Amino acid sequence: MKGEPFRIKMVEPIRLLGRAEREARLREAGLNVFLLRSADVYVDLLTDSGTNAMSDRQWAALVTGDEAYAGSRSWHELEEVVRRITGFPFVLPVHQGRGAEKVAIPALVRREGQFVLGNAHFDTTRAHIDLAGGRPVDLYIPEAADTATPHPFKGDLDVERLSAFLDEHGADAVAAVILTITSNTVGGQPVSLRNAREVARICRAAGVPLFLDAARFAENAWLVREREEGQAGRSPAAIARDFFDLADGAFVSAKKDGLVNIGGLVLCRDEELYRRLAPRVVAYEGFLTYGGMAGRDLAALAVGLEEALDPAYLAYRVGQVRRLGAWLLEAGVPIQEPVGGHAVFVDAGRLLPHIPPGRYPGAALAAELYLECGVRGVEVGSLLMGRDPETGEERRAPAEFLRLAVPRRVYTDNHLADVAEGLARVARRAAGVRGLRMTYEPPALRHFLARFRWEDAARG
Ligand SMILES: Cc1ncc(COP(=O)(O)O)c(C=O)c1O
Repeated sequence: MKGEPFRIKMVEPIRLLGRAEREARLREAGLNVFLLRSADVYVDLLTDSGTNAMSDRQWAALVTGDEAYAGSRSWHELEEVVRRITGFPFVLPVHQGRGAEKVAIPALVRREGQFVLGNAHFDTTRAHIDLAGGRPVDLYIPEAADTATPHPFKGDLDVERLSAFLDEHGADAVAAVILTITSNTVGGQPVSLRNAREVARICRAAGVPLFLDAARFAENAWLVREREEGQAGRSPAAIARDFFDLADGAFVSAKKDGLVNIGGLVLCRDEELYRRLAPRVVAYEGFLTYGGMAGRDLAALAVGLEEALDPAYLAYRVGQVRRLGAWLLEAGVPIQEPVGGHAVFVDAGRLLPHIPPGRYPGAALAAELYLECGVRGVEVGSLLMGRDPETGEERRAPAEFLRLAVPRRVYTDNHLADVAEGLARVARRAAGVRGLRMTYEPPALRHFLARFRWEDAARG
């Protein structure tokens, strides 16, 4: 079956601005595509987060949302679905993934300077570890940073480095291990079940809690089914459950595989931890039966979590992203291989070798792609990594990416063909693409609000 496993019931017009207008909009935005208006973007691949198209069943569920402050029926229905999918007895609602991080990470980091290890922490996770006084450490496998060499599970955590870290620093110095499935930072790359089992075994032996950052738990399960020996033909729900069963808890941004536009969850197994987390949810997010979501959001999420595990949907979803990657490779654009679950990660460092990391090749390519064809992608590289809070030094990313994240059920293959053709044109004139200098650097999460000028003064 080549076609999408859905038909389209509602459409939203989009338009492509002329070249001169695109340049004017980009300059107004300080060359930072985060600061563009979405109406000025033709195909928006900034993020797959909260940009999902909901199904007719989800829209129908919205109307049934119970907006009660306490004891909402929609909450109890969602809680039941989450328990069934994940097996976690304790479920807390939050408004989105970083809400989960704000609630849970300070409860895990017991004292200043404790390490939080992970395969590759996402930027907001890293920020919340920093804010909680912890020290984030990424232990991705060496293949993750080598975009040209395919490896089926570039999201894996390097278990040898994990054991060595625990031996060197002692388990007491480690607050938790967070396994991010799929690993967004290294290219939407999956974590194998084998690796997750090994990480869980090491954590259990050391007495260190293991958490999942499970924003893309369904896409990870699908890629495990496709790539891991012994997993072919298993249901994505069963594979996802195997991952949840290994962990002590999970943070979930529901804006990805929840197939909704807002929402999140904190999950745990230990009642004592739940009792520590619950008042934090009430203080920061809202009462325990809504946590920053409207009753209708809870209802739509309950449906979305189940739809995300449908094999026909996942085959379409992962297949569409992979097609975009194949078109780019045909055009000679270097990308992280193999293509992961939610996005194609263009290796801007390899495409633009004349631009050093400190001139942000990923962000420079994002600006150029918008100029070329009105498409918005986003840098995932040294700009996003920010600075070490102790030394003030810029942190070096594993690779300098331009991420093209594909919203779920939103764009057709024709849209993505326009993206591939536009980027191929930029690639043909890559040597002329200029690096960026920051003219404004915010103190934290700088990539969202930073402003730039082109390195070449004649153009900036
Ligand atoms: C792996 C991962 N963790 C956490 C988050 C944060 O979630 P949110 O944007 O819902 O706050 C994201 C968001 O993109 C993510 O990709």
